[in-house]
Amino acid sequence: MTAIQTIAAWEALDSRGTPTVAVAVTLSDGSRATALAPSGASAGSHEARELRDGGTRYRGAGVRRAVANITERIAPSLIGRDAGDPTDIDAALEGLDRSAGFSELGGNAVLAVSLATWRAAGRQHGSLARLLQPIGPLLLPMPMVNVVSGGAHAGRLIDIQDVLVVPHGASDATTAIEWAARVRQEAASIAVEAGYGEAVLVADEGGLGLPLSSNRAALRLVVDAIERAGLEPGRDASLALDLAATEFWHDGVYDLASEGRQLDSAALIEEVAGWLDEFPVVSVEDILAEDDWSGWVRATRELGDRVRLVGDDLFVTNRDRVDRGIAEDAANAVLVKVNQRGTVSGAFAALERARSAGWETIVSARSGDTEQSWLVDLAVGWSAGQIKVGSTHRSERTAKWNRMLELEATEKTVFAGPWPRTLR
Ligand code: PGA
Ligand code: ZN
Repeated sequence: MTAIQTIAAWEALDSRGTPTVAVAVTLSDGSRATALAPSGASAGSHEARELRDGGTRYRGAGVRRAVANITERIAPSLIGRDAGDPTDIDAALEGLDRSAGFSELGGNAVLAVSLATWRAAGRQHGSLARLLQPIGPLLLPMPMVNVVSGGAHAGRLIDIQDVLVVPHGASDATTAIEWAARVRQEAASIAVEAGYGEAVLVADEGGLGLPLSSNRAALRLVVDAIERAGLEPGRDASLALDLAATEFWHDGVYDLASEGRQLDSAALIEEVAGWLDEFPVVSVEDILAEDDWSGWVRATRELGDRVRLVGDDLFVTNRDRVDRGIAEDAANAVLVKVNQRGTVSGAFAALERARSAGWETIVSARSGDTEQSWLVDLAVGWSAGQIKVGSTHRSERTAKWNRMLELEATEKTVFAGPWPRTLR
């Protein structure tokens, strides 16, 4: 038996300078690991609840109460328990807080403990990826790399949140990441030439924040950047979008404020259909808002055989919501963010459910993230098809790409491209 020996917790900072929960777990075999919880800006309302202190420290965003919940409530009940299979620790965490979304203990508290335990248990196997997948080659997921940012990550300069490049023609991760970085650099050059200034805004996830004339202009810019990088749009690299539509859904209408247009679900679907006609787009995330189920069903009916329709805020990494999506045919892919759910095994359950329905799976970072790279080990250990961690700028983003490059250099791996290639 490998028992949990100590659990320490403290308040740390995420990439936006906002407090987050940090945890260190030691096991009886001497293994030790830390975990820092990430945090979203365009968070869905059905996500696990982050516990924040209020008051004046960090303008209310402190996490001392969440830290206290770990040291006073979680640690005493977990110390001494067998963490050989951390699924048992996750089950114990679920048992400690039966409220919806861990609102008593804090989803941020629960996640940091769960992750640190998984990472510590992974030490014996060499890595978290190898704990999750002990034998055989590791599948490195296809990167989806942010180039132009909007929405809550870039001062709402445009309405849609991400225009990403997917280097799907690359045959290894090293090439895929280089292509994406080149496209990001060419996009910055185009922006400077277009007169947006020498110092273009680097948004929360490292993409470019630009006061473009329309959302469509952002898609055009990234296609131009793919071409300027010497790649062929649609063959070597295509676009992926995250509309994060919940963010601009007000009173039942989709408010494209940067264009001064207000659309209902049907009109927004039609707008996106026009983008699909004009640009090589392979994936559209959060095309509609988190509770617009009838809109999602319509979108899947009209666009589902042309493009991946990815539910992020719609599913919030919750197996029950994924079940509803499968039953109603309301999407065909899932985005998985462990902090939306609260435990590593809870997140995996949502991913597995989606995969069993034949859906694509994407593992994703948050806009407020940290220097840690466990996300890659989770994505790889789970054989997810794609990974989305932001751009190729900012160290909390490159930490993840660098972990992928390390795995490709040091482990036996299979890359998910030329797309699609899977282990299953
Ligand atoms: P968030 O954004 O972390 O701010 O929610 C990421 C995403 O929407 O995919
Ligand atoms: Zn999203």
